[in-house]
Amino acid sequence: MSFVLYTYRKCTPKATQILLICATWFCSAGGLTPLTNDSPRLAYYFGTKSRYEEINPFLLTNPLLVTRKQDLLPNTCTPLQIVSVIRHGTRYPTKKQIMKLKKMYSLIQKSESKSELVQDLQSWDMWYDDWMDGQLVKKGEEDMKNLAHRLASLFPSLFTVDKFQKCNMSFITSSKHRCVDSTKAFINGLAHGYFRLPHPPEDELIGVTCREPVVNDTLMRFFDHCEKFVVQVEDNEKAMHEVDTFKKGPEMSKVLRKISTLLSVPEQELNADLIQVAFFTCSFELAINNIVNSPWCSLFDEEDAKVLEYLNDLKQYWKRGYGFDINSRSSCNLFQHIFQHLDTAVSESKRSQQISTPVVMQFGHAETLLPLLALMGLFKDEKPLTADSFATQNEHKFRSGRIVPYASNLVFVLYHCDLAESPKEEYQVQVLLNENLLPLPHSNQSVCLFDDLKKQYSHLLHSCHVKEECELTQVHTSEDEL
Ligand SMILES: *[C@@H]1O[C@H](CO)[C@@H](O)[C@H](O)[C@H]1NC(C)=O
Ligand SMILES: *[C@@H]1O[C@H](CO)[C@@H](O)[C@H](O)[C@H]1NC(C)=O
Ligand SMILES: *[C@@H]1O[C@H](CO)[C@@H](O)[C@H](O)[C@H]1NC(C)=O
Repeated sequence: MSFVLYTYRKCTPKATQILLICATWFCSAGGLTPLTNDSPRLAYYFGTKSRYEEINPFLLTNPLLVTRKQDLLPNTCTPLQIVSVIRHGTRYPTKKQIMKLKKMYSLIQKSESKSELVQDLQSWDMWYDDWMDGQLVKKGEEDMKNLAHRLASLFPSLFTVDKFQKCNMSFITSSKHRCVDSTKAFINGLAHGYFRLPHPPEDELIGVTCREPVVNDTLMRFFDHCEKFVVQVEDNEKAMHEVDTFKKGPEMSKVLRKISTLLSVPEQELNADLIQVAFFTCSFELAINNIVNSPWCSLFDEEDAKVLEYLNDLKQYWKRGYGFDINSRSSCNLFQHIFQHLDTAVSESKRSQQISTPVVMQFGHAETLLPLLALMGLFKDEKPLTADSFATQNEHKFRSGRIVPYASNLVFVLYHCDLAESPKEEYQVQVLLNENLLPLPHSNQSVCLFDDLKKQYSHLLHSCHVKEECELTQVHTSEDEL
């Protein structure tokens, strides 16, 4: 196959056309296609528990394959810096999920049904245990090592041994185990996979801290530090009203009745959370152990899966996405931080200096990425996702499985471009999500002049101050006082 190097210059309509062609190509080449033969049919609906391979299915056959070289800018443009926000790799269920699974499993144990499915489930080995509590699994380490390898192959001039050894790469992480371990796996993947550096003797490691994860929760878990978010959304039961309504609504009730019949477990002993954990178990068995035909998956058909995907997306929408402004506003710091890196690199470049930190990798959660993407106005549906819009929102854009699967990554690449005519140079930024071009809302393009990008987002860069955004304003309602 021969690839054409598209020239992106400014955000002109002509470039838009080129990009649309390109975007169409990438959609048909895997970006948004439903399923390949390699993917079990339910896997498309696993939401935040989706494998990265569901988005880039060619990775199932070759996890190191880089197919996006054709999206790079022409030779007159040189990458100066890459700044990324990366979700941790595949993980175990959390303690809470394991608790619910144990409950569901014990209900099935009591079932007197003699069906093959129930017997398969009864003899299924309940191997999940409390200690696992959301930790990174082996596959999750592989996710990160392979991602490191692919990103480095995509930008070899940025990921050099020299820059790595001279401490010019920055690795920041959330304090959660799975994120710290993801960062370590990423660094290992670079050092020993991509650079093929030997494992150094112990003593050489002493004192070298720059190639280790640096924990910064203010940046990567901004949601914990935003009081307004915590009080009004996280700890506010009423905030999840749409989710709770959907759990009791007709679509979920239908799935619940079906599962109740299949399992011969009384309806009143089941609830939406238990149904959901059964569905998650189907996803965990696939993501963690590569088990394609787990009996947990046999409980569901594609219609059920759509309902459960919607339940997952609805929760993300209200808790992390467009549901409440504070969800995304709380990520302003991280957004500004990204632009500070780019700004620094541009000014260093203008002074003909080497870029001090050409590689910035920041590891967090789906809960880190979703608010940031919402802040940028991406994947916004015209109408809000609500409990009663399952039928009308079947094409919704805010689809977490497409946006934030395990190991999902948002990447900003800063380029310096030499021009034939005046001005002799310009700086461009290309945005990728999960290694695919990400068209930005204002232009539908994934490449933009850095200055234009800053103008587009000037309200976020200049008028979003997290300290004020997150401050709880004292509201004295008259009802309270009466
Ligand atoms: C986290 O990063 C922010 C932004 O760079 C910085 O201001 C803050 O000091 C860092 N916090 C820690 C604990 O390093
Ligand atoms: C690379 O990082 C080191 C340590 O932070 C710094 O001293 C050096 O100036 C950086 N290199 C460049 C080219 O800026
Ligand atoms: C981007 O593309 C979509 C779909 O093709 C279109 O509906 C929308 O109007 C475009 N937006 C801009 C700003 O060009």
